[in-house]
Amino acid sequence: MKLNEKRIEQRLSKLSEFTIPGSPWTRRAFTEPYARARDWLEHEMTIAGLTTRIDHGGNLIGTLPGTNHALGSLASGSHIDTVVDGGRYDGILGVVAALETAQSMKENNYQPHHNIEVIDFLSEEPSDYGISCIGSRAMSGNLSSDHLQYTNASGEKLHEAIRRAGGTPEKIQNACRSKNELAGFVELHIEQGRVLESNTKKIGVVTNIVGIKRFEMIITGRSDHSGTTPMNLRQDALVGASKIIERVNTQAKEYQTTNGYLVATIGAIHVRPNAVNAVPGEVRLTLEVRSDKQDWLDHFPEQLITFATKACETERLQIKSRQLSYMHLTDCADLVIQTITRSANTLDLSSMTMPSGAGHDSVFMAQLCPTGMLFIPCLDGRSHCPEESITMEDAINGANVLAQSILSLDQRVEK
Ligand code: GLV
Ligand code: MN
Ligand code: MN
Repeated sequence: MKLNEKRIEQRLSKLSEFTIPGSPWTRRAFTEPYARARDWLEHEMTIAGLTTRIDHGGNLIGTLPGTNHALGSLASGSHIDTVVDGGRYDGILGVVAALETAQSMKENNYQPHHNIEVIDFLSEEPSDYGISCIGSRAMSGNLSSDHLQYTNASGEKLHEAIRRAGGTPEKIQNACRSKNELAGFVELHIEQGRVLESNTKKIGVVTNIVGIKRFEMIITGRSDHSGTTPMNLRQDALVGASKIIERVNTQAKEYQTTNGYLVATIGAIHVRPNAVNAVPGEVRLTLEVRSDKQDWLDHFPEQLITFATKACETERLQIKSRQLSYMHLTDCADLVIQTITRSANTLDLSSMTMPSGAGHDSVFMAQLCPTGMLFIPCLDGRSHCPEESITMEDAINGANVLAQSILSLDQRVEK
C-alpha cells in the first residue's frame, strides 16, 4: 500500500505549528493551542473519511469501519500534547502516521476486516494536574475518582479540564474499553535516545517499556528575613532540598553498576517565597524514578525517602511525600513484536529490538490488547527539547512499517 509521503510531511509541519508563540514547541494539554490543534486534527480525520468522536475520557478517535465488527478494532495512535519547550515530533508522528494508514487504506480501496481506529490520546505528557497518560488511563480503567480531583496551580480540577477537552468525567468508567473490543494496538514514536543512531539501524522494535513512579515532596521550614536571621537560627527548606537532590543523583548512579536500568530525576522545583531577600520557607520537588526492574522501582524511592526524612530532621525541617503516579513495567506482545520485525524486513529496513526508557500510552493499552511499539531514530537522541529533530526519510520509513504491520495484523484472520 502506497502512503502519501507529502501529506505526512505537511501534516507533521502543520500540527507542530500549533504552539505558544515564542516558546516552540509548547502545546500543553488543555490549553488553547492544544484545543485548536485538536479541532484541526478532527477535521483532517473527517477529510480522510473517518467517523470521529471524543470518548468519555477526552480521547479523539477516528474510525474506518471494517467488514467484521466482531473481530474488534485494530488501533494505532499516540498524543499531540508536548512538554514545555518540547520537541516537534514526540507524539505527533504516531498520530499522523496512524491517520495516514487509515486514509491510505480507504484511498487504495482496501477494506479492512477490523475497524481501524486512529487515536489521539488526551494528555500523554505529565499534565499540570499531576498525572500523565490521562486518556489512555481512562480507556484502560486506570483513571480513578481520586485522580479526577487532582488540581492544577490555578485550582482547576482534572474533571473540569477533561470536560473542557470534550470528555464526560461523570461517565469516566464508560471510557474503559472491554478487552474484546480491541484486537491490537501499535504505536509509532521517535526513539528519544541515541541507540538506533549509534547502531545505524532504521527501526527499533520495542520489547518492553520501563516502569515509572513519580512522587511529590513538600519540605517545610520557616520563611524569614534573609538579612536579619543568623545562619544558626534558620530553617531553610532549600538547604534540605539540595541534600535530597544530590542524594538522588548519587543513589541512582549506585544502581547503574549491575544488570538493569534505573534513572532518577528531580525535574521540577518550586520555592516559596522565591525572593532574593527571603529564607526559603517551602520547597516542592518532584521525584521521578524509572526502571526495568520491579524491585528497584520499589526500593529506590523507599531508600530515598528514608534519607530525605533524616536530612530534613537534621535541618529542623518537615517533609511530606506522596506518590503521584505509577506506570507499570510493560512487556510488548510477541505477536506485535514479530509483526513489526517482519514488516521492517519486508520493506528492507534494518531493525533491532530495544527497551523503551520513555513512557507511552502503549503501557495502558497493553492492559487491553496485544500491544507493541516501533521507534525511528531522532537526531543526536535529543527529545523533550526544542532541538528534537528527525529526517523525513525516517518518518516515512516509520509510517510504512506501521502501515505494513497494521495490514498484516488485519490479514491474520484470513490465514
Ligand atoms: C514521556 O514522554 C515520558 O515522560 O517518558
Ligand atoms: Mn514526551
Ligand atoms: Mn511521546
